[in-house]
This record gives sequence, structure tokens and C-alpha cells, in this order.
Amino acid sequence: MSSEVRKAVFPAAGLGTRFLPATKASPKEMLPIVDKPMIQYAVEEAEKCGIREFIIITGRNKRTIEDHFDSVMELEVTLKKKGKHSLLNEVQRLNHLHFAYIRQRMPLGLGHAILCSKPVVHNEPFAVMLSDDIIDPEDALLKEMLKCFQKYQSPVLALQKVPKKDVSRYGIIKGIKVDKNLFKIEDLVEKPSPSNAPSNIAIIGRYILTPDIFHFLETVTPGKDGEIQLTDALKALLKTRDIYGYLFEGRRYDAGDKAGFLEATVEFALKNPEVKTQFRKYLLSLKSNLKTRQG
Ligand code: UTP
Repeated sequence: MSSEVRKAVFPAAGLGTRFLPATKASPKEMLPIVDKPMIQYAVEEAEKCGIREFIIITGRNKRTIEDHFDSVMELEVTLKKKGKHSLLNEVQRLNHLHFAYIRQRMPLGLGHAILCSKPVVHNEPFAVMLSDDIIDPEDALLKEMLKCFQKYQSPVLALQKVPKKDVSRYGIIKGIKVDKNLFKIEDLVEKPSPSNAPSNIAIIGRYILTPDIFHFLETVTPGKDGEIQLTDALKALLKTRDIYGYLFEGRRYDAGDKAGFLEATVEFALKNPEVKTQFRKYLLSLKSNLKTRQG
């Protein structure tokens, strides 16, 4: 097994039911946060860490993702002719990356989506990026996880503390702290009830995995609805090797959910050089209106 992480897998074949009807015919991953589709934030995060091979797991209605990361000659020629150089740079910025697309025929769960990448990942460690978990670009979560992987040569999961009432939305870990922000995982429980949860430390959408996970994804028993859960495969893998977790203390937006998506939109707009001044003014004017509106 190579000791370097060069590939990242982006599961993007889910149905996105929380965004219906917007996601009836268009991918959730292409919903824009200000001026970039959600998935591009995760691609840029991985690119910043030196990853150059991107494996996107897609399904029906997801073709615009492929188009988005392709070159658009007529657009590029027109922008050049019109002297719109900064827009041209923006649309060409990711042209040096390699993208591979694999169709997941049925949305049989996150674990199954990752298993679909096996023929392209081969025998290498790889990152998994869930693009609806948006990490603030100023935070270096993936970089820190890659450092842990270099040190321990073991899978590393991204972790974040969540309010106790929310544990039933996540995979939750039991672990011992072995270093600053670093946990050795002892157990994992998928979506426990608050009273049964071993902690309030949740697994969030960034993983560094080793290729031995594929064996467990192939052999775990599918859960309800025939879905193959990544947490079940990780639990089985944990019996054979160490797994670490990196506790992230920065800002994450759960943009797979309407409220989180709106929070990300507002905060990214407030950082966008083109619109931030006007948008800030608008929000301030809204603030006084909000007080008089009913909640
Ligand atoms: P989610 O749990 O957010 O599911 O999947 P979803 O279908 O995208 O959205 P909702 O819950 O119906 O609104 C987490 C990630 O795993 C991918 C999704 O595309 C998302 O990036 N996924 C999920 C797959 O690629 N295939 C699946 O079968 C399930």
C-alpha cells in the first residue's frame, strides 16, 4: 500500500430528499453557495492538500457534475475575447485535476457508494469527502487528518462535538484521547439515541481510509432498506486494526440540511469580495425588521 494519499472519493449519488423539489432533476451537490456549487468547495479543499485525482460517485440526474468539472471551450474562448480574465481564470482553475466518474446504480447507502470506487482506488489509501459538509476554507481539517495518517498509517475519521440532542443524526464514537485533538477509536455507534450514545463526539464528512475497508464493505450485512453503512464496515475494520479520529474545532456547515445550507450561504456571502458590503448592509437593515416580524 502506498503511504501517500493521492485520491479522493466524493460520494454524490444520494437522492437529496431534504432539498426536494429542487433535487428532483438536479443534483444537490450542484446547489450554489453564493457562486460555487457545494461540491466545488470540497474539491478545492482536497486540491489545497495536494490531492490531484478525484473520483466522483454519481447516479441518475447527476450529469451536470461531470459538465461542471469539464472544460467549456466556447465559454473560455468568449471570456478571453471579451477580456474577462479573472472569470476565465476562475473557470479554468481546476482544469489540471483528473476526474473519474462512477455510477452507483442504486442509492444503497454511503458504504455502497464508497465500495463503487474500489476499481479506481485500487490498493491505495484515499480520502472520502462528503460535499454537503462544508468546512470553512480557512480551517485546515483535511491537512491535519493527512498529517495523522502520515504518522500512524491508519484510517483517520473527522470528528466534531455535537449537542447531545443531535447524536441520533450521526455516527458517534467512543474513544480515548491520545494527543491534542486526536482520539484512538474504541467503538462506533450509528445514530444512537441520546440516552445510549457513548459520547457526543460525532463522525463528520471527511475520512482517510485504507483499502482494507473494501473487504468489510463487501461483507457487512446490509441494514434496513438494503443500505450498506460505512459505520458498520468501520466497526468490523476496528477489530483488525487501529482507527484514529481527529477532533475538528473549526466551522462546519451541514449544507445537506436547509438551515445549514442557508447559514453557509449567509456566511460565505459575508466573505465574498463582490457582494459582502452590500449584503452586510442588507442584513443589518433586515435585523431591525426581524424584531418586528413574528418568529
Ligand atoms: P445523505 O445522508 O446526505 O443522503 O448522504 P442524501 O441522499 O444525499 O440526502 P437526503 O438525506 O436524502 O436529503 C451523505 C452523502 O452520501 C452520498 C450523498 O450523495 C451524500 O454526499 N450518498 C448517499 C451516495 O453517494 N449514495 C447513497 O446511496 C447514499
